[in-house]
Amino acid sequence: EGLHSLMLAAGKLFFGTATDVRYLDNKAHQAIVQNPNEFGMIVPENSQKWGELEKEDKGKVDFTNTDIIAAQAKGNGQLFRCHVLVWGAQLPSYVTSTSWTEKTLSDVLQAHITTTVTHFGSQCYSWDVVSEALSSSPDSNTLSTTSLFHQVLGASYIPFSFYWTSLAADPSSKLYYNDFNLELSPSKAQGAVDIVHLIRNYTSPTGEKNKARIDGIGLQSHLFVSSVPSLPSLTSTLELFTNLSLEVSFSELDISHSSLSPSPNATQIEQQEKDYMTVISACLAVKGCVGITVWGFSDKYSWVKDAFPGKGGGCLYDENMKNKGSWFAVAEVLRRA
Ligand code: G3I
Repeated sequence: EGLHSLMLAAGKLFFGTATDVRYLDNKAHQAIVQNPNEFGMIVPENSQKWGELEKEDKGKVDFTNTDIIAAQAKGNGQLFRCHVLVWGAQLPSYVTSTSWTEKTLSDVLQAHITTTVTHFGSQCYSWDVVSEALSSSPDSNTLSTTSLFHQVLGASYIPFSFYWTSLAADPSSKLYYNDFNLELSPSKAQGAVDIVHLIRNYTSPTGEKNKARIDGIGLQSHLFVSSVPSLPSLTSTLELFTNLSLEVSFSELDISHSSLSPSPNATQIEQQEKDYMTVISACLAVKGCVGITVWGFSDKYSWVKDAFPGKGGGCLYDENMKNKGSWFAVAEVLRRA
């Protein structure tokens, strides 16, 4: 019995995890990644990002690492999520160092989208087409102006990206907008609603309407213990999107401790278990919530400890790949569903 099989029994599509080639030599980690009862959806943590695909020179695209992860998922009968086409971070160095005009940047963006989406074809259950387009300091319904794409192309880079992905993608691949703190900031959630309308109302440069498709919203949910929204608040955020005929998923879940020193005490550990139960319950309560993906399952490899020194411990398995209380809490809530 694993989390994914429990999730299926609860009527959902997947319980998944991020992983990547850099963890391939850890056998204990691999045994868990490759257990399709535990994880039914795999997403590459880094290797499919534009800056990783075009690491060397402009135009030298290398899909090898992502192909390895995709093939492994396929071999295990796991779904594969494609992450991420258009994001302001982890870009190739030529993209960040060139002085672009509207025309030259749109051409390069369109080529990147078409080449990448065509390469992966029907392998992608879904595509994170655009990530993190909304302002985050503070979180709000306005678009982030720190993104190179916004600086050169304005807001239209978002529907433009969904338009070109819609043309290139397999019709069965779901196209997602993915962001963090949508679950914490009502204003930012409204910003995501506005993005959906922007995409649906888009007229392409050649005058086509209704060709840019969006199918889902990914709520990243990089959360902290004791700061997780209530169950009613989470379900109403999910419903904001399902009411627009979109599917939703928790796409990068982790619930970290704000301080690891001294080690979390029993109360904090118990709170983390409750917080995980709240998030899982929210997905179970909303019909259009199709699944949950954790952003890594082991505290050993969580991105949080690199990005926020002193914080972490937010995963379902400890550094030795042993199930934590948080894992048992998730399993229990799924079993009760
Ligand atoms: O691969 C190089 C390695 O060669 C080098 O020695 C090392 C030294 O710093 O860096 C390595 O690259 C790092 C890469 O992770 C792989 O470890 C980058 O510096 C580091 O910035 C990168 O961090 C990733 C981060 O995105 C970048 O923004 C995290 O692993 C990844 O978990 C994180 O994931 C994002 C999602 O894609 C989008 N949503 C937020 C989420 C968390 O930030």
